Amino acid sequence: MMLADFPLFPEQASSFARDVDTFYIFLTVLCGTVSVLIFLVIFYFAIKYRRTPQNEVAQEQEPPKALEIAWIVIPFFIFMGIFVWGAWLYFHLSRVPDDALDIYATGKQWMWKFQHPSGQREINTLHVPVNRPIRVTLASEDVIHSLFFPNFRTKADALPNRYRTMWFKATKTGRYHIFCAEYCGTQHSGMIGWVEVMEAADYQRWMAGGAEGSLASQGEKVFQKYACHTCHTIDATGRGPVLIGVYGSTVTLSDNTTLKADDNYIRESILNPQAKLVKGFQPLMPTFQGQVNEEDLLKLLAYVKSLGAMRLPPGAAPQQPPAASATSTRGTP
Ligand code: CUA
Repeated sequence: MMLADFPLFPEQASSFARDVDTFYIFLTVLCGTVSVLIFLVIFYFAIKYRRTPQNEVAQEQEPPKALEIAWIVIPFFIFMGIFVWGAWLYFHLSRVPDDALDIYATGKQWMWKFQHPSGQREINTLHVPVNRPIRVTLASEDVIHSLFFPNFRTKADALPNRYRTMWFKATKTGRYHIFCAEYCGTQHSGMIGWVEVMEAADYQRWMAGGAEGSLASQGEKVFQKYACHTCHTIDATGRGPVLIGVYGSTVTLSDNTTLKADDNYIRESILNPQAKLVKGFQPLMPTFQGQVNEEDLLKLLAYVKSLGAMRLPPGAAPQQPPAASATSTRGTP
């Protein structure tokens, strides 16, 4: 019988589903075998060394050295093997391929909201192309949820205070379950949905149908709505750092540490601008905690990302304060 037919396991529909199942089955069989052996030996010894008139008091026996070494060395190599295999799988599941398609997911009591970079929005349904790595950037609007694709054998917590990423590559077209895998309140069990895996051409057709402009262009509108552009100008005359080229670059902070400007850094810089101040800028920017909702945050992130791919005009440096002749007070990113 094929593993895929075994009713305990959902159909394998992603590039790493088979690897995850193989590892899982190996662990189960190994643990099961060892448990059965231990119980058999317990029963055998309990009978063999039971109390008899000739054997009233137990006697201590030194085990042979070779046996003692064997039961230390063999499990050591088995455990190291499990560690190396598990770590390999974990890194494989964590490392998102560079050519991945971006999807944004937001958990909310009690629904999943999905946002495509081209602007399409969906609730409790996610359309993805087959045989293409998909990177899901995940957040929550309230409590901790967990986005679970059983057929893809992957799952990640949606956290209320930061972004997480997960990825998968669906290998079969079809309709597969989405579950919330973290108890999140009364309707937790109803927080379910479907992922529709489509042929690339069908996906293109689906994407072409109706959108409110790309996510980045919606983000630009949010950027203007909150008047971010008054400080984050496109040349180095504003009170805040120029955002062109920032995303993905290395940023020097006021305490001279450096970090990579990634999703979580951008998010934190919007919600809590004082936390990581860019070197040379004053802590002027107000917090947007509680003012910008998750949807607008995602749009802003997409906009800042799109700026990250742009090049600065020659001579301008995004992370340096403007020359002394410019304004002397500056904001944070
Ligand atoms: Cu959301 Cu459980």
